[in-house]
Amino acid sequence: MKIIQEIPALKTEIRSYKQQNQSIGFVPTMGFLHEGHISLLEEARKHHDKVVLSIFVNPLQFGPTEDLDRYPRDFKRDEQIANELGVDLLFYPSVEEMYPTTPSMTIHVTQGVNVLCGASRPGHFDGVTTVVMKLFMLVQPDKAYFGQKDAQQVAVITNMVNMFNVPVEIVPCPTIREEDGLAKSSRNVYLSALERLEAPSIYKTLHEAVLLMDEGETNPSRMIQFVQNKLQELPLAEIDYIELLAYPSLHEVDEIKEAIVLAVALKYKKARLIDNVIVNKG
Ligand code: PAJ
Repeated sequence: MKIIQEIPALKTEIRSYKQQNQSIGFVPTMGFLHEGHISLLEEARKHHDKVVLSIFVNPLQFGPTEDLDRYPRDFKRDEQIANELGVDLLFYPSVEEMYPTTPSMTIHVTQGVNVLCGASRPGHFDGVTTVVMKLFMLVQPDKAYFGQKDAQQVAVITNMVNMFNVPVEIVPCPTIREEDGLAKSSRNVYLSALERLEAPSIYKTLHEAVLLMDEGETNPSRMIQFVQNKLQELPLAEIDYIELLAYPSLHEVDEIKEAIVLAVALKYKKARLIDNVIVNKG
């Protein structure tokens, strides 16, 4: 596996892949790899000649009061995991390499951002799309793999690719969970022992909601109320949002009759957790 930290070296490597007509599968991450990231890399490995992984904790997508400085990092461990999974190229740039000067422009997302995480994280998706666009330009992948755990992120990036006719196919991949249902996340390490015991209730509740919809519930407000009643009983978590929207448009719905996402965010003392389920009633 090649580890590349500088953009000129990355360009040379990508050029040689292209000259040999090799297909490129790309998995952008912020590192501290877990089974969620690993599932994306395994999926990419199945379909491409070359698999490129990026690890970059992107300051542009963190708000001023968010956890940029204490975002968990362990490059040595990540490197070993990537190697074992057969990654061909690990791109690991510094902040100075990606943003040598204050960015002279950024992408501004205008649709699908005043809901879910976008509502409580202003500018977050501008930062995500800007870095992903930059990475797409550098890596020039045939396909890029993203987790449904960040359902809004996949939706916004798919819109970006459509909007700018970016020649990259976005592949959404299922959420990987702990045995007790908690969605794998780099931020789970910040849960206290008691919070960790409580957190599986998030998915348990979403799963119960899916069963209700399967049994015929079509009213979004009743669904949200059901989830709220359950989640507000959790003593340690504070509810950030509970929303039910059409997926992937993220428009509001009056009735559950097409594909929807039921998504929640909860705040614990040191970690904000998100989870969602996608229900296809089509
Ligand atoms: P990061 O949080 O490191 O996640 C990288 C990718 O892993 C994302 O596509 C995310 O949805 C996916 N992922 C995380 N947890 C998952 C899980 N439990 N199951 C399946 N997939 C999971 O998302 C980002 O980084 C950044 O915003 C990035 C796209 C790299 C831009 O900076």
